[in-house]
Amino acid sequence: PSRIAVLASGRGSNLQCLLDGIAAGQLHARIAGVFSDRPGAAALDKVAAAQRWARKPGEFASREAFDAALGDAVAASAPDWIVCAGYMRILGAGFVQRFAGRLVNIHPSLLPLHKGLHTHARAIEAGDAEHGASVHFVVPELDAGAVIAQARVPVLAGDDADALAARVLAVEHPLLLASVRLLIDGRVAERDGTVLFDGQSLFNPLRL
Ligand code: GAR
Repeated sequence: PSRIAVLASGRGSNLQCLLDGIAAGQLHARIAGVFSDRPGAAALDKVAAAQRWARKPGEFASREAFDAALGDAVAASAPDWIVCAGYMRILGAGFVQRFAGRLVNIHPSLLPLHKGLHTHARAIEAGDAEHGASVHFVVPELDAGAVIAQARVPVLAGDDADALAARVLAVEHPLLLASVRLLIDGRVAERDGTVLFDGQSLFNPLRL
């Protein structure tokens, strides 16, 4: 089975969806470790103690020092893939380059729209008719890497950020599971900043 390292800062519902997919035999993988910048993150509780790494960035002398420690811990878990699933800290260029081509993120917007934080409120504010989530390869520039796949939901009259976030989260889980499956099956790869799907350049994200 492929080894997946998961970076998570919070609740861990996307991690749970990977665990459920593994348990159901939908994903031929195992979770190599869960890595967090928040020692209290609920995501950590989803795996055995030996598979957890969590440190507070404030205990390190610099961003680079934290990223180096995180990177050493991730590398020690010998992952084939590194999945950011609700990891809310920006990864430095050193970390990104260390794991280039093996590092993906799920982001709650239809990239390139709404990079960064508060995506649901911003989609409502912008009057978007549709919103959703994207799985993309990570590059040093925030939320700017090549997009593998997206899932869409409508923005409905009367939505607030929480209602919209819940609708998006429901499609994030199958989106992430399907995307990770494409990676571990070798059907999707990154080359020169673009996504290859079955060996062909992908001009538009897959719609999952
Ligand atoms: C998800 O909505 C994910 O897309 C988002 O955080 C949430 C984590 O939920 N990620 C980002 O905003 C990354 N910038 P989870 O902890 O239940 O998986």
